[in-house]
Amino acid sequence: MTSLLEVRDLHKRYGETEVLKGVSLALERGQSKVVMGPSGTGKSTLLRCINHLNPPDAGTVLLDGEELTARNLNAMRQQIGFVFQDFNLFTHLRALDNVRIGPMKILGTDRKAATELAMTELDRVGLADKADSYPAELSGGQQQRVSIARALAMQPKVILFDEPTSALDPELTGEVVSVMKQLAADGMTMLVVSHELGFARSAADEIVFMDGGHIVEQGPPDRLFTAPEHERTRSFLQVIAAHDHQGDGGTA
Ligand SMILES: Nc1ncnc2c1ncn2[C@@H]1O[C@H](COP(=O)(O)OP(=O)(O)OP(=O)(O)O)[C@@H](O)[C@H]1O
Ligand SMILES: [Mg+2]
Repeated sequence: MTSLLEVRDLHKRYGETEVLKGVSLALERGQSKVVMGPSGTGKSTLLRCINHLNPPDAGTVLLDGEELTARNLNAMRQQIGFVFQDFNLFTHLRALDNVRIGPMKILGTDRKAATELAMTELDRVGLADKADSYPAELSGGQQQRVSIARALAMQPKVILFDEPTSALDPELTGEVVSVMKQLAADGMTMLVVSHELGFARSAADEIVFMDGGHIVEQGPPDRLFTAPEHERTRSFLQVIAAHDHQGDGGTA
């Protein structure tokens, strides 16, 4: 069977710097994978190349067996949700409008249906009562949950998350992680760049460790966290674990 998302041999360079040196991975339907690795190693670049926010120099991305190309890019991108570290909400729009604008403007959903859909997704992230609030009136954790609802409202096949909790105070991380865990349990296919061990240990099917533009190793959290094969993975995980034990229970 075809994978839901398949990335084959992606290469990307910025000027002299070769950032992705041939990255391949596959996500099956309903799988969650967490990408970890040192800063500057190409994790964000990988996500941005997957939906061609930054077009890769070489390699292919297939969604449900169909290759992303310049011609089908808009249609394909609609099926790939993206949740950013800094939320990226429209500050002049209420939560409800942030969530329904995509279906209305991009998918042509009528206002009534888009409103119902948006309310369903806001409810799913526990924010139905904040539909009329502007982003500035919401906490960081609430803003990130609105941005997850916004991604969900497009009914994507997969959602890419780039460090969704790293801009949040530790006490707000948990509410976002619990929404993400619920999505994973509901069968959403998710590729998550995060050093959040709470999510990685309990909701990820696999951990992907990247370093220097390569995938060094990947495997189920049980194995990767307890018996990594590579020294680079081991030393990185020690740094993450040390952060995690600094009393905040989960951010890194
Ligand atoms: N638009 C760009 N133009 C030039 N260089 C870039 C650009 N985006 C990223 N880079 C460089 O590519 C490398 C990888 O960056 P990337 O943001 O993918 O790393 P990362 O693994 O996400 O790091 P972090 O953990 O800090 O978010 C870095 O050296 C970065 O400076
Ligand atoms: Mg990054």
